[in-house]
Amino acid sequence: DTPVTIYERIGGADTIRAIVESFYPRVQQHPDLAPLFPDDIQPVMNKQYLFLTQFFGGPPLYSEQYGHPRLRARHLPFPITPRRAQAWLSCMSKALDDAGIKGSVREEIWSRLMYTAHHMINQPEGTP
Ligand code: HEM
Repeated sequence: DTPVTIYERIGGADTIRAIVESFYPRVQQHPDLAPLFPDDIQPVMNKQYLFLTQFFGGPPLYSEQYGHPRLRARHLPFPITPRRAQAWLSCMSKALDDAGIKGSVREEIWSRLMYTAHHMINQPEGTP
């Protein structure tokens, strides 16, 4: 029998869309994160939708369009401090709440996102 993916357990495409649509307005309102992002957030939302789909075990939509994610390398142009990683995670936690994600699947998602967010840190605290 096929293992059930996180993607399927949370409800697939509609749920990923809901996460992304709650997350980015929060990012744009967060004083530590907003300056890093472009005013036109739609392209970023779309990429994150494609990425999270595959990150959670759905179809590899991001890689089909953009190749290997190389997330750390793609984030190097942006100064990501521990504080910004924390801010990213706090916006994401609220987005997961809004999407109604709870229980064991949330714990699995959370540990993967925490690990990945910490991996993106590329600047010590106290840099602009
Ligand atoms: C792109 C910030 C963590 C996934 C970006 C961009 C910024 C950013 C500024 C570029 C937006 C643009 O196109 O102008 C951050 C910060 C993080 C963080 C401050 C704090 C740790 C993460 C994590 C993930 C992620 C944990 C995945 C779970 C992505 C993806 C893109 C992206 C898929 C699009 C990459 C592309 O250009 O193709 N992020 N990010 N980010 N981020 Fe993050």
